[in-house]
Amino acid sequence: MSSPSLILWRLLACPRSGASGIAPLLLLLPLLLLLPVLAAANCPCQDPVLCQPIRQRPDFEVFAFDVGEKTWKSYDWSQITTVAVFGKYDSELMCYAHSKGARVVLKGDVFLKDIIDPTFRASWIAQKLMVAKTQYMDGINIDIEQEVNCSSPEYDALTALVKETTESFHREIEGSQVTFDVAWSSKCIDRRCYNYTGIADACDFLFVMSYDEQSQVWSECIAAANAPYNQTLAAYDEYIEMGINPKKLVMGVPWYGYDYTCLTLTEDHVCTIAKVPFRGAPCSDAAGHQVPYKMIMKQVNSSISGIQWNKDQQAPYFNYKDSTGRFHQVWYDNPQSISLKAAFIQTRGLRGIGMWNANCLDYSGDAVAKQQTEEMWKALKPKL
Ligand SMILES: *[C@@H]1O[C@H](CO)[C@@H](O)[C@H](O)[C@H]1NC(C)=O
Ligand SMILES: *[C@@H]1O[C@H](CO)[C@@H](O)[C@H](O)[C@H]1NC(C)=O
Ligand SMILES: *[C@@H]1O[C@H](CO)[C@@H](O)[C@H](O)[C@H]1NC(C)=O
Ligand SMILES: *[C@@H]1O[C@H](CO)[C@@H](O)[C@H](O)[C@H]1NC(C)=O
Repeated sequence: MSSPSLILWRLLACPRSGASGIAPLLLLLPLLLLLPVLAAANCPCQDPVLCQPIRQRPDFEVFAFDVGEKTWKSYDWSQITTVAVFGKYDSELMCYAHSKGARVVLKGDVFLKDIIDPTFRASWIAQKLMVAKTQYMDGINIDIEQEVNCSSPEYDALTALVKETTESFHREIEGSQVTFDVAWSSKCIDRRCYNYTGIADACDFLFVMSYDEQSQVWSECIAAANAPYNQTLAAYDEYIEMGINPKKLVMGVPWYGYDYTCLTLTEDHVCTIAKVPFRGAPCSDAAGHQVPYKMIMKQVNSSISGIQWNKDQQAPYFNYKDSTGRFHQVWYDNPQSISLKAAFIQTRGLRGIGMWNANCLDYSGDAVAKQQTEEMWKALKPKL
């Protein structure tokens, strides 16, 4: 920790430790006593108890990202332990989640050059904390997907940001949760080089985004699985070998796939794709576009191949022809491919599972869709 941040930390910590902190505390006491009353008065839930933060610690974490819409009413709340609100804040969702004992956390995103300054970090954290408190939320999910070089000022600043955020949240919101999203691999994927062990130590757990694994394709430019089985699981072992406790890792699975336009499509289903470079790699999944599972399920009937299963990647795919006559290949995850990966959570004793994102399923209530949606939720459950 650099000295300015140390001083700042002492300043912040001061009223809690030194005797000098008592006098201001006495002055503040009436106000502090009043706070819960004021809070209850503003509580948007029918039952004011629902505005209290969630305190229980689940044995198994099911971490759901929500990007908006009202579909959350149809989620499987018997499983969800945390909802990360990445869309517009919805107080109704907060009340509902709390009634189910699930935490609601906000999104933390920040421009990395800014956080090198410890004063900026402190004000960023204070601002997030205020938002969390006024919205009765239970923590924050820090999602930084920017480039970071090893031994750069941002590298250490990021670890410090996570540590300071966790300290503040844990101190200010009882039972709160601070988590951090990491790429599927610790090997500087997409030029995101973080201090993984430092960050894991500094927060409650890492959400490993085991998807977009074709974001940097160094070999042949062909369409491939979003989250191939072997590659996905080997990366968890690398995180564990670095010294990260498996209980600090939540497996993130995709509820979406990629639709690639094929330049050529062979009889044995090899789809070559356009060269779209990404962060130094000659081709990437940016040659395709992301499609939510609900769309894929509608498209699959018009495929020319039927659902295929790739044994090497343990993932489904299909081919179709668009209205202009071009061939496409769609790679995705389904209950079968997800269950296979989820089994590893038990094998290695990971903390849980989660998905990007919960809105990707069809909650229309249509009979076929309903079953597909239920099966996707069921695939998250550990098979004991
Ligand atoms: C990382 O280092 C490379 C090479 O020195 C440089 O070109 C790039 O701008 C750096 N990226 C960041 C985010 O600092
Ligand atoms: C990672 O962070 C921890 C905690 O701040 C620190 O002790 C460690 O030296 C860092 N590791 C690297 C490689 O910078
Ligand atoms: C796809 O076809 C199957 C079998 O014919 C049918 O049961 C299902 O309802 C169809 N799905 C959609 C979304 O049209
Ligand atoms: C996946 O890993 C298993 C076990 O290590 C190995 O036998 C198999 O060949 C691997 N498959 C691929 C496609 O790499």
